[in-house]
This record gives sequence, C-alpha cells and structure tokens, in this order.
Amino acid sequence: MHQNWLLTRRRVLWLGLATLTGTGAIARETTDRNQQNQGLDNPERDFKVVGKASLKERAAAKGLIYGAAANYPALSSDPKLAARFVQECAMIVPENELKWPSIRPGPDTFDFTKADWLANFAHTHGMLFRGHNLVWNQALPPWFKDTVNSKNAREVMLKHIKTVVGHYAGKIHSWDVVNEAIWPEYNQPHGLRYSPWLDLLGPDYIDIAFHAAAQADPKALLVYNGDFLEHDRPEDEKRRVATLKLLEGMKSRGTPVQALGMEAHLLGEQKLNPKKLKAFLHDVADLGLKIMITEMDVKDDKLPLNINVRDRTVAGAYEDFLSVVLDQPAVIAVLTWGLSDLNTWYKVWGARADGSPVRPLPLDAQLKRKLGWNALAYAFDHAPKR
Ligand code: XIL
Repeated sequence: MHQNWLLTRRRVLWLGLATLTGTGAIARETTDRNQQNQGLDNPERDFKVVGKASLKERAAAKGLIYGAAANYPALSSDPKLAARFVQECAMIVPENELKWPSIRPGPDTFDFTKADWLANFAHTHGMLFRGHNLVWNQALPPWFKDTVNSKNAREVMLKHIKTVVGHYAGKIHSWDVVNEAIWPEYNQPHGLRYSPWLDLLGPDYIDIAFHAAAQADPKALLVYNGDFLEHDRPEDEKRRVATLKLLEGMKSRGTPVQALGMEAHLLGEQKLNPKKLKAFLHDVADLGLKIMITEMDVKDDKLPLNINVRDRTVAGAYEDFLSVVLDQPAVIAVLTWGLSDLNTWYKVWGARADGSPVRPLPLDAQLKRKLGWNALAYAFDHAPKR
C-alpha cells in the first residue's frame, strides 16, 4: 500500500491496466508515459519524487553516472554553486576550458591552469572528470588561420592531442575526440560538416584524431560527440542516419571510437519520436558502442512566459527524453550543460525575446531544485538497473 501511495496517478492507472492485461508494467509504462505526454505542457503531470537523495545518488543506484558541465569563472568564485556541484554531480566536464583558445594560446604553448583547476576540483571531491573537446570546427584560436595549412595541419592536430590527452592520461573518464562533425545540409557524399580540419586533411581527419587519442591515453573512453540527434524533425533524422554511417565506417576500419555522445540540447517546443529515438539508440549499441548524454538542457526561448508552464514543459521534455534513453542499457552517463540557471550558455545563445531569464537546467538561479530536477530524479528512479 505504501508503495502504491508513492506512484503517480498515471502509473497507478497503468499498473492497473497492466495487471488486467498481464503485460509487463514497468517496461510498458515508459512508452506509455512518453506517448501520452511528450511535447508540450501537460498540467496533469506532477513530477513527484520520493526523498531528498541527490541526482548522482539516484543515478548511481542504477549503475549510471550523473554529471554536469562546469566553468572556471563560476565554480572558482561561487562556493555555494561549487557545493551544489559536489552534492549533485558524480562527474564534471569543463564547459570551455579544454577548448583550443583556452588551452593552446599559441601554436607552441599550452596553458592548463583553468582546466587543471577543474580537474583538481573534481578529484578532490571524488568526482570523475571528462574532456571536451579535441577536434571541432568551432572555437579555434586566432592564430590558427594564419599558422595552419594543409602541410602542417596533421602535425598541429597530433601535437595537440598528444599533449592535451597525455596531460590527463589515466585521470580522465572520457574524451570528446571529435565534436559535431556532421552536417548533411552541406551536401557532401560523406555527410561531414564544413570545418578547417575537413578542408585541410579531408574526411580522414576523424580517424587520425581517434588513433592519436587512443595512443595518448589507452584508458579513456573515446567519444564521437554529435548534435541535433534527438528530435522528430527531418534534419535530426538525417543526422541520425549520417551518424550511424559515420560510426559504422569507423568501426569497420578499426578506428578506436568507443562511444557516441548525444548532446541533447533539447528544444522545449519540439517533439520527440520515441520509436525513432529508441531504434537509433539500439543501432548505435549494436555497433558495440556505449552512449553518453553529454550536454543535456532544454531551450525555453520559444515557450510561454508563464514560469509554471515553462518549468513543466522543460521538465516534461527531460523526462520524455530520458524515459526512452535510459531504457537502452548502452547508455552509461547523463550530463547536463550546466547545473543551475545562474550559469547557462542560453543566457547568451538562447535568450528570450521578452527578456525573461531562461530556465533550462535542473536548479533555478537561486540554486534550488526545480521541476526539471524532479524530472531527472524521476527518470533515474524509474530507469532499469545496469
Ligand atoms: C558552448 C559554451 O557553453 C559557451 O559558453 C561558449 O560560448 C560556446 O560553446 N555544443 C558544444 C559545446 O559542443 O562546446 C558548446 O558550448 C555548446 C554546443
């Protein structure tokens, strides 16, 4: 009886139905929740969770890792924020501090100060540390354009990977080796995105990067990190197809890719297609790859101004996505792109036209748990155990 009292209304309904029909309640419940609720606001959803356990504890109870992106300016200057990271997260990833402009101020100079500060913070507090990222078409330093050409590009990349991956070898969980490489709209047979790396080295740049990373740290999990893979839009479907093709090719050539990172910058107003998402995750897992959710948040710039409606929609998007994703045993970790609305890239990159502060993350700007937090907690609580 006590247990029933803890169940949401919808789940009670479902359990009743499942008992009548003899179907497996828990497995079907996830799909059911998703079909009924996904998409926009539903005032019926209550996102009730039991107890006060943190996200990292709830995730760990299922053999999962929960973590978040952190940045040096915020974490080093705000002890309250730092305490919340320690409380909720089992892993951190630097938001910008491992990107080229930060870590390689000149072609021959490396500066690990801020990234090391974050790595030490993680290790001091018993958290895992992950790396983002080594090769990307964006965030290249000012010196890159004038210094790098088709003759030295390979050497410049190899030096970077050897130095940066080598610096954290044995002390890092995983690396986003190549970031956001796919852009089907660029209309190339290989499906790759325009990038100086593609320009200078051709499509092989991806394999070159993964081999170098494996050599520099044989222990870190090597991840291809992809964007816009989640929603039920034609462009997402194109990316799912192109990503599978890329990963299949890499596996068949013996390129040491070990996981897919799905960024999961979810769009609050967009729908998911649980069937397509599930099939994609299955196909990735079938290649023998792990899956990490690497940058999850919910963009709320197109959602109504009303904060209750907005928070419920954001929470709904989290739960709808995670209820599908966490059913896939190859998924090992979930990271949000920040922890609190106080520090989110959407303050700049996803600001609302009405000027109302954005609310994409599990904690509000006062560092309090909000409905989005409940949605993550609920999803971990209902995830099958690894
Ligand atoms: C973003 C950071 O959050 C911002 O602070 C920065 O100004 C731009 O980059 N995909 C990625 C991340 O892989 O590196 C991006 O991070 C967000 C989108």
